Amino acid sequence: MTILVLNGPNLSRLGKREPEVYGRQTLDDINRELAASFPELSFEFFQTEFEGKLLEKLFESEDHGGYQGVVLNAGALTHYSIALRDAISAVTIPVVEVHLSNIYAREEFRHTSVISSVCVGVISGFGANSYHLGVRALLGLAHNGQ
Ligand code: DQA
Repeated sequence: MTILVLNGPNLSRLGKREPEVYGRQTLDDINRELAASFPELSFEFFQTEFEGKLLEKLFESEDHGGYQGVVLNAGALTHYSIALRDAISAVTIPVVEVHLSNIYAREEFRHTSVISSVCVGVISGFGANSYHLGVRALLGLAHNGQ
């Protein structure tokens, strides 16, 4: 079984982008650490700046089968993309919403997530560790349904 780690717009800029908010690690660093922390799992990593490509990737993983779940940092799409919300709702594969920053401790427009209600859960505010916790959450779901 493979875990898909999906990242949306602007997450390609990690390391350079507002390091005081998002840390100094690049997305490659985070992905590498994640794979090293769970040597027993296989991962697929995908990042795009385009909303439609995120949707396509979700549908591909659903149709392909063999995915245990998705760890998704949708970036700003979290706050307004009904298309992404509907796509998550359209697939049966469990999706965990993750954020590096605590979106509830930031600007008001970030306090709304239009995708949370169709994700299995939300992890926000633990930096790169949010991705690790997301993977743990999926493992828990697979092993004991919680
Ligand atoms: C983010 C939080 C979003 O509000 C923001 O638009 C991002 C990153 C995070 O990981 O903290 O691009 O998803």
